[in-house]
Amino acid sequence: MAARGEDEESPLPLTLSRFQLSEEYGFLLPNPLTELPAPYGPWMEIAGSLPQLIASRQLRSRLRQMPQLSTRDLRGREELHLAHLVLSFLTMGYLWQEGEEGALKVLPRNLAIPFWEVSQSLGLPPILSHADFVLANWKRKRPSGPLEIENLDTIISLPGGESLRGFILVTLLVEKAAVPGIKAIVEAINALPRLDEEALHKALQQLAGAIGDMGKALRRMHDYVDPAVFYSVIRIFLSGWKDNPAMPHGLVYEGVSQEPMAFSGGSAAQSTVLHAFDELLGIRHSQESTRFLHRMRDYMPPPHRAFVEEVRRAPSLRQHLLSSGNGSLRAAFNRCVSALADFRTQHIAIVTKYISAAAAKAKAGRGEPAAGTGPPPGKPPSLLEGKGTGGSHIFRFLKSVRDTTREGMISA
Ligand code: HEM
Repeated sequence: MAARGEDEESPLPLTLSRFQLSEEYGFLLPNPLTELPAPYGPWMEIAGSLPQLIASRQLRSRLRQMPQLSTRDLRGREELHLAHLVLSFLTMGYLWQEGEEGALKVLPRNLAIPFWEVSQSLGLPPILSHADFVLANWKRKRPSGPLEIENLDTIISLPGGESLRGFILVTLLVEKAAVPGIKAIVEAINALPRLDEEALHKALQQLAGAIGDMGKALRRMHDYVDPAVFYSVIRIFLSGWKDNPAMPHGLVYEGVSQEPMAFSGGSAAQSTVLHAFDELLGIRHSQESTRFLHRMRDYMPPPHRAFVEEVRRAPSLRQHLLSSGNGSLRAAFNRCVSALADFRTQHIAIVTKYISAAAAKAKAGRGEPAAGTGPPPGKPPSLLEGKGTGGSHIFRFLKSVRDTTREGMISA
């Protein structure tokens, strides 16, 4: 069996728990905390009414009056994740309250210093990421009820009402549907050195099934998210300060550094799931796309990033199949690649509907979000029209990634 260099071989067996991943929740934070210790009441109080404070344009003044709190009373991973979630939402609300034309250059120290410290403790960037927006931002309505959308809610919200809730929770359902696929990665990698082709075949079947289920979950976006609300209200609050013409110089974190810093906005390109699938299947994207996707890994919690790296360093499944001549294994592998390309095609259709079609309607004055969903802050954001919140040139990037996925099929 071919390895990618003897000295690079990883210790086996691979387990999920080594990377803080769970059998039940995959990359989702299991049952996130919803309350911080009492000293953090001032943060939680403002975070609890973000949509209203933004709609009435009072958030900035409320945040400027917020006391400077020490992060010393935060204990353990769960509290740190909730603090990061809260501070990231406060920061996005503060910066984008007045829309893309009213962006600011400085984050005040009472927000910047604790956000920086919590980010350092978790190894996350000081900006809202997929890990905050989705992985750590969910709770069950009925604690003993299922992980289904009807029984789920977000912990912290931004403008966008039910569409925002749907956007976060449908993405969570995609993460949940991926869980058997993540377990299949571990099974496949552990089956390789044993040359256990039956286990490998089973793992690949499980992976293809999980990717199909992720596609089904993704389609639920249509039922829960209104494109006009997504485009005109929600999207700007996910925008970052790197490659963003609305904040060309980045952001000064007051009390942390006098130099501005640049970070990409929140995007599911920061979800670890597809990165891990690509690595297992040996999919190679173009240099430009790889550069962007690898940069997105810096926005993952470090243990998740380490998991992707471990999958990359594992003995190559593709090389094994190329040399084994087992036709049914190759077919099972190709079903995974094809399912992954189909998922990406479906995702492109979603992006077309929620960004380009919604932008065209907004320009023609036909895309007004319904009343009560929150303010379109000023006019609909136009500077990011051709770019994703992560800062990529959307369609060139997404199509290239989809096409190079399909090229990953192994010919019979
Ligand atoms: C309304 C829904 C969605 C929209 C408008 C959307 C938009 C985008 C955009 C614009 C990008 C380009 C990267 C960037 O600059 O941000 C992107 C990338 C990506 N998105 Fe989404 N997205 C949506 C939902 C989802 C969901 C639910 C998932 C699944 C977890 C997902 C997974 C990805 C992945 C993995 C990438 C990286 C490209 C790839 O690996 O194919 N997206 N998305």
